[in-house]
Amino acid sequence: MITAYAPGRVNLIGDHTDYSGGLVCPMAVDLGTTVRLEPGGPTLTLDSDTFAGTAVIDVDIDDPASVTPPWGRYVAGVVSVLRPTIGGRGAVTSTLPVGAGLSSSAALEVAVALAIGADPADPVRLARDCQRAEQLASGVPCGIMDQLVSVAGIEGHVLLIDCASLTWHAVRVPAGVDVVVAHSGEARALVGSAYAERRAAVEAAADLLGVGLREAGPVEVGSLRDPVMRRRARHVVSENRRVAEFAAALDRRDLGAAGELMLESHASLRDDFEVSTPALDALVDRLARAPGVWGARLTGAGFGGCVVALAEPGATERLGLARSWSVHPSAGARRG
Ligand code: GLA
Repeated sequence: MITAYAPGRVNLIGDHTDYSGGLVCPMAVDLGTTVRLEPGGPTLTLDSDTFAGTAVIDVDIDDPASVTPPWGRYVAGVVSVLRPTIGGRGAVTSTLPVGAGLSSSAALEVAVALAIGADPADPVRLARDCQRAEQLASGVPCGIMDQLVSVAGIEGHVLLIDCASLTWHAVRVPAGVDVVVAHSGEARALVGSAYAERRAAVEAAADLLGVGLREAGPVEVGSLRDPVMRRRARHVVSENRRVAEFAAALDRRDLGAAGELMLESHASLRDDFEVSTPALDALVDRLARAPGVWGARLTGAGFGGCVVALAEPGATERLGLARSWSVHPSAGARRG
């Protein structure tokens, strides 16, 4: 019997920057997905404690997006990328809340990949393979952040990831800081088409400038004529700066500065990148006004889903949030 585990993640700052080679600052969380597998046979057959239906995937599957039940598409995506020669029979169990924006699909992909023989010694390759699996399964042209931090997470730390070089640097989360994820009550909507549209705008801006947005500054952004494209690019360029400043602030335990940068990030995602919703804005506002909360922002793709806050332990409990989780920075995926 093979056992593989992969954690979910929350991104503290740096959203919609990964797919243009920018900076992100996520952490793996202490909630995740386990795959237990008895290898053998020409199909991979998995049951889930979270989703209905058994996923039965041929090892030579070539159209993961058509698989039913839908959760099996992520398993099929991994199989179609890794091409194992034998299948197996087993079960998926998860402590990750469904639809909470904690990257349960990335955790599933990474755990399946390790269970069917991917090499954990090459974290970038493993993350790239799982990113490809996610793209094939969902049709969303996602970046690499979720899969990479699920693979490479470090206990007690956030990872400052440079998505151009795919290198990272661990920054300790100071003692006495609670990372809280709170659901807005809105399921993420339009993520597929709106995400692809935002990514296309960022790529078009870089094409027009003839330089990647990672290298661009306010002057280049200001030269873009189209006002929508200019706002999208301004978000990415300013967010990359905020991520670097956030990591430095966390490193020197300046939680006031870190929290302020989170609020600025939210405003930029709301006004320039336009991926927030009134419910996300209201939740960030409520958290930001609460005593003992340093900062809050929407996290992940946006269009609904969750916000993340940095707070003194217990500070957010007084707010009586409907669905919230206090999460601990954790180690990445492992076999056995
Ligand atoms: C989703 C994608 C990531 C990233 C975020 C936004 O989570 O999977 O690659 O682009 O949205 O930062």
